[in-house]
Amino acid sequence: MFEDLKGKVVVITGAGSGIGKAFAESFGKAQAKVVMNYRSDRHLEAMEQSINLIEEAGGQAIKVQADVSVEADVNKLVQAAVDEYGTLDIMLNNAGYEKPIPTHEMSVEEWNKVIDINLTGAFIGAKAAVKQFLKEDKKGVIINTSSVHDTIPWPNYANYAASKGGLKLMMETMSMEYAQHGIRINNISPGAIVTEHTKEKFSDPKTREETLEMIPAKEIGEADQVANVALFLASDFSSYIHGTTIYVDGGMTNYPAFMGGKG
Ligand code: BGC
Repeated sequence: MFEDLKGKVVVITGAGSGIGKAFAESFGKAQAKVVMNYRSDRHLEAMEQSINLIEEAGGQAIKVQADVSVEADVNKLVQAAVDEYGTLDIMLNNAGYEKPIPTHEMSVEEWNKVIDINLTGAFIGAKAAVKQFLKEDKKGVIINTSSVHDTIPWPNYANYAASKGGLKLMMETMSMEYAQHGIRINNISPGAIVTEHTKEKFSDPKTREETLEMIPAKEIGEADQVANVALFLASDFSSYIHGTTIYVDGGMTNYPAFMGGKG
């Protein structure tokens, strides 16, 4: 469908699992050249499967190990795309981490870990991408995976909500800085999406029911439904979209408590 993505070079952080893996496979099926970043070796086997799938679909893919919170690693990641495929067209800052901890028990280390990966990681990735785009005088695209919790507070996840809230204004600010160069920067904010990370909690009937109560569409989302939006935001179909957040959440951000018409 998104013909213009064919042959485009896309770097995806956190591509070894979850929504990132779906991103990689979707761009691969669109016959893009995909640089799949991962941090932990436990994702190696799954990534090999993704690479096979991408190659069968006529795309290309390589995998590159890097810690998104380390600038030298991310610079090497972008350089790997340039060395292998000659350029960078699309940067998808997707790597993320979450763990519930009541705020009064949250150590500074736990606070920092989430901020480092989710916010600083996206900053480093976006910075490296912009540098490359300016160097090549290219109208590149940056997409960050954010969350409905860039706007909905989330008890026991103060670090996560802060990282995503920060990511929203970082994206909007960067977009304002670089839109004049034709660089488009946008966020995708998923709600409850079933992946290997969330499978366990959503298969618990009580948690599932409680979550569905917060979703007007009454269904948990699929990673592919998020990936479709990434394809759109990366393609020329969205050529006039700058500095925006697209929520992929079944309506979760739309005050579901009011559904019954009360208030
Ligand atoms: C989190 C999920 C959560 C969803 C809705 C996402 O950002 O990664 O674990 O289910 O928000 O609360």
